[in-house]
Amino acid sequence: MTQHSQDTWNANLYDTQHSFVSKYGDHLLDLLAPKAGEKILDLGCGTGDLAKKLYDAQVDVVGVDSSANMVAQAKKKYPAIPFEVQDAAELDFHNEFDAVFSNATLHWVQTPKQVLTGIYQGLQQGGRFIAEFGGKGNVQTIIDGIIHGIQEAGFDYNAEQFPWYYPSIGEYTALMEEAGFRVTLAQHYDRPTPLDEDNGLRDWIIMFGSAFFTGIAEDKKNDILTTIEQQLRPLLYTDGQWVADYKRIRVIGIKEK
Ligand code: BEZ
Repeated sequence: MTQHSQDTWNANLYDTQHSFVSKYGDHLLDLLAPKAGEKILDLGCGTGDLAKKLYDAQVDVVGVDSSANMVAQAKKKYPAIPFEVQDAAELDFHNEFDAVFSNATLHWVQTPKQVLTGIYQGLQQGGRFIAEFGGKGNVQTIIDGIIHGIQEAGFDYNAEQFPWYYPSIGEYTALMEEAGFRVTLAQHYDRPTPLDEDNGLRDWIIMFGSAFFTGIAEDKKNDILTTIEQQLRPLLYTDGQWVADYKRIRVIGIKEK
């Protein structure tokens, strides 16, 4: 699920505390409806759990991720599956795949046109692209809380630090069509996402939102995280649990020609 210019990913932490990311991917696998013998690219494979499900379904699966840490962990867990370090914006496949599948990755890449061109090029004629990622307004309450917390502590927030690409459905499907796809499904839906344990929000921000804290010392960061927790508790903590305000985009595109 991961694309970052710097490899800040902690693959062990990802597997132990954030395994919900690939668990949610199960629904996307249903949409993919893989058939035995198909060749499928898992774009942003993370530590390989969804690729393993495809492998078990007799799919000829290849997993790529921009994080060398994630790929190393995926290879260690599932040595029979080919995993490679590759950036989603620099894919170099040609008419190879029956499907390209991507769960919780594309919001990390700020150059969607390049990504879509590479995916289209990698698909065989008739191939399908199935993806889910953060859409417009995703985790907006958390973002507002982080920016407010940083500024309240006397630090600047620069919009260039924003790590995610969260398009509207109109924007993204237009880009898909521009790349050549026929869009057969497009949804932008709320998916409130429970975060494990009392530290759930803090752990989520540490794992995924580190870009907001660039240049801030660790002790200050901890204080800011405590402030953010206090300010967001009335908004995102219900029935003894943190719930992140995810808004997802889910799309299917077909390469017809
Ligand atoms: C998401 O799946 O929407 C997401 C996950 C981590 C960071 C940002 C968004």
